[in-house]
Amino acid sequence: TRVRSSAASDVYKRQEDAMPVIFHEETKQFHLFNREVSYIIRIMENGQMENLYYGKALRDREDFSRFHEELERSQMSVCVPEPGLLSMHYTRQEYPVYGTGDYKTPALCIRQEDGSRITDFVYKSYEIRKGKPSLAPLPATYTEDEEEADTLEITLHDERIDTDLVLSYTIYRDYPVITRNTRFLQKGPQTIVLEKAMSACVEFLDMKFEMVQLSGAWARERYVKTRPLEMGIQSVYGLDGTCSGAEHNPFMALKRPEAGEDNGEVYGFSFVYSGNFLIQTEVSTFDMTRVMVGIHPESFSWTLREGESFQTPETVMVYSDQGLNKMSQVYHRLYRKRLMRGVWRDQARPILLNNWEATYFDFNEEKILKIARKAKEAGVELFVLDDGWFGARNDDYRGLGDWYANLEKLPEGISGLSRKIEDMGLKFGLWVELEMVNKDSDLYRQHPDWLIGAPGRFESHARHQHVLDFSRKEVVDHIYEMIAKIIRESSISYIKWDMNRYMTEPCSLTAEPARQGETMHRYMLGVYDLYTRLTTEFPEILFESCASGGARFDPGMLYFAPQTWTSDDTDANERTKIQYGTSYIYPIVSMGSHVSAVPNHQVFRKTPIETRANIAYFGTFGYELDLNLLSDQEMEEVKRQVAFMKKYRELIQIDGDFYRIQSPFEGNETAWQVVSQDKKESIAMFYQKMNKVNASWLRLKLKGLKEDALYQVSLEGAPQKDYKAYGDELMYAGIPVDRTELNRRGGDFASLLYVLKEIEK
Ligand code: DGJ
Repeated sequence: TRVRSSAASDVYKRQEDAMPVIFHEETKQFHLFNREVSYIIRIMENGQMENLYYGKALRDREDFSRFHEELERSQMSVCVPEPGLLSMHYTRQEYPVYGTGDYKTPALCIRQEDGSRITDFVYKSYEIRKGKPSLAPLPATYTEDEEEADTLEITLHDERIDTDLVLSYTIYRDYPVITRNTRFLQKGPQTIVLEKAMSACVEFLDMKFEMVQLSGAWARERYVKTRPLEMGIQSVYGLDGTCSGAEHNPFMALKRPEAGEDNGEVYGFSFVYSGNFLIQTEVSTFDMTRVMVGIHPESFSWTLREGESFQTPETVMVYSDQGLNKMSQVYHRLYRKRLMRGVWRDQARPILLNNWEATYFDFNEEKILKIARKAKEAGVELFVLDDGWFGARNDDYRGLGDWYANLEKLPEGISGLSRKIEDMGLKFGLWVELEMVNKDSDLYRQHPDWLIGAPGRFESHARHQHVLDFSRKEVVDHIYEMIAKIIRESSISYIKWDMNRYMTEPCSLTAEPARQGETMHRYMLGVYDLYTRLTTEFPEILFESCASGGARFDPGMLYFAPQTWTSDDTDANERTKIQYGTSYIYPIVSMGSHVSAVPNHQVFRKTPIETRANIAYFGTFGYELDLNLLSDQEMEEVKRQVAFMKKYRELIQIDGDFYRIQSPFEGNETAWQVVSQDKKESIAMFYQKMNKVNASWLRLKLKGLKEDALYQVSLEGAPQKDYKAYGDELMYAGIPVDRTELNRRGGDFASLLYVLKEIEK
């Protein structure tokens, strides 16, 4: 425990080696800060915690209590003896409860043995430690070196129920990032029930914000939606049970109305969890904004008996005073370096070909080998066998749960096929959907009681399948053994872990009645457990998570699987929106992106093959079609694309910073860019939806370059048009968008890719 009490001097001079967490004993104030952000909280007269400030870094001082204000108001409920005026309704609280004078939605609700839900958690102790403790089995950001972050843990105690509540905060030294989570420990003999236990609550003094969310549905995931805050409640949430969902991403940003991509204050909130969540803002009629992030209280409860504890998932808060793009870059870097793990974390990803849209369920070994051979010829590195290889899986009515090869389709099994693919010089990857079962399967016939379902109720179905009860260890054990056997016997370098339905009748047939409210969270812990076991036994395998496309694109998954299938919508035009929205928080290297056939299978649109690649480069990159069906000319183009991606994937996926330039949600054009850390290299992508006749001039204004560096500007596919320009010219005057080239590339849905390299002046 390190304590710095600065009673001696009021103004603490900020130094490079300043400890990011300071406790001022006299004023009972904690200050978490680094060069970019400050978070200041204090212990109030009633022993509870108050937020005094969250925003741009402040010089540390002994006392910030002037930011706590009191006033006698009509209708005010006071929580300290007279003549005190402390009232919870007008105070920015760190972890508010209902019932003691605050009439807004609480962060916590505990039902006690006497039926009361009134609690009083008061300050007991604190601890400051270096680094960041693990939240395992929950996913969370981490540190590699304990100097990277400091963690403050404040323990509060409710004497009447003898319960500890620990508010945990980590501040990273080099990122404007504060992470939060909460832990409960029931010490006393009475049994309590957590009915609501959020991970974080942050209160702002005003409501001058717009709320940015990523919302959509299947095949149109993570569209950017922005709305001004109003008095009352507005929220995003997921109640799908099995996943964070395609509807709302577990993310929200509050931005100042004047803030844009490159300017202004933005506060990001991201929840590291893959199950039900709630991210809510509540604006009081005094213009105060309360943000809460946590597991959705609907259908959630958690019983704590003496000696038991409960850990909430992590919330990652990013502060940016340079707009949304800076917020995104911070999330990208943090999630790529300190959330993703394993051997693939720092590696550019193999270029793959997936057979789903090429064959659907209709394949045999011969057909697969033919597709793989052609992929190899194009320079592809990894062949992925999608759904349909196991049990009686010839359509989506049957087979899920029977994780052994269908020998009619694949006579030598997965082990034989994987070796044949490897002999061609390709790596082999396999699709699975481990959490699910069809009633027409051997697994269901053997274990009809392994489904999630409510006793005596109809079991709703979706895609003809049911959810296995992963809250039960014996179910997870069994599935683990089945799939580990196949992996051990075969040569598998990649696994696509799919999940294709939401949960219904969320009960576990073996749970005790008092614990049914735990089922959905326990299910998610079961999923994390299986991921932990598989990534531990097979650390070299690259996992890609997937859920009917992008219904499980969340930070919880990225901890286990460093890439996610972004959407089942593979149309290039649709992908501009989906990938643009996804880039608000998720790193480019995490976005599964493929070139697929035309007419596109989701929207039946024809886009140029060049554009399909130009969009897919900004992701993991691969193909999802049978290359045998392409013309010779198209095949040459594919070879060129594969070579391009091999040359630039390190820059795009690992080294580069991503900049959004023009939003597809605002008009006909989309543009984005990556810039290397040393700013010597950059790639910019420009796309237009519809071609225009006799159109006005357009400039593509780049970002992130060195003003005084001279760059060679090359338009892919038009080497005769190379030119040289300084960074300032490229950023402030821009690149004149070449309309002749857009026309030459088909006009509608045409795109341009500019590659920039710094050269000697
Ligand atoms: C949904 C996925 O998003 C698709 O890519 C494909 O794997 C299918 N499931 C297979 O059933």
